[in-house]
Amino acid sequence: MKDHLFILLLFLAISTAIAGLFLFIFQSSRIENETGMQNPKKKRFFFFIILAAILLVLLSITIPKSPYFIYADKSPAKVVYVAAQQFVFLTSYQAITLENITTEAIEVPANEVVEFRVTSLDVNHGFAIYNDKAELVTQTQAMPGYINKLRWKFTTPGKYNILCLEYCGGGHSFMRSSFTVK
Ligand code: CUA
Repeated sequence: MKDHLFILLLFLAISTAIAGLFLFIFQSSRIENETGMQNPKKKRFFFFIILAAILLVLLSITIPKSPYFIYADKSPAKVVYVAAQQFVFLTSYQAITLENITTEAIEVPANEVVEFRVTSLDVNHGFAIYNDKAELVTQTQAMPGYINKLRWKFTTPGKYNILCLEYCGGGHSFMRSSFTVK
């Protein structure tokens, strides 16, 4: 809740600043006489400096909140390998490759960091984890030739569903799997 309030206040502050900037540009760009705007190059330079400063502030606030840094400093209690393939999700505690196609039922501990190492054996897929209320918990992309690491701490035990979140062919909507959090 605190985070939501902070984001709302941040949004209001940024929108006020942007609105103020536009008002300033509008005011300062009005032609007052035949000679037009004074020092247009200087004003343009000033405008870009302000824009760069706003972008810098926004990036420095939002980049550390990127999901790629979630639990980056922790070592996972459990590692789960996921390989997407038209139109299934293979899950295992061991690495899955085209030479070693395997799948097993997965159980991960609650309140511990779990790392999913997600790849694809054919085309791009989406790896999305949903809770039993069909709410999206977290997600990453499953891409051939890459292993995307997704770390998460499940606080509620139960059954979680894996659904494909990227259109990958005729069977896309049937592509699903599940695992248990205990
Ligand atoms: Cu796999 Cu959509």
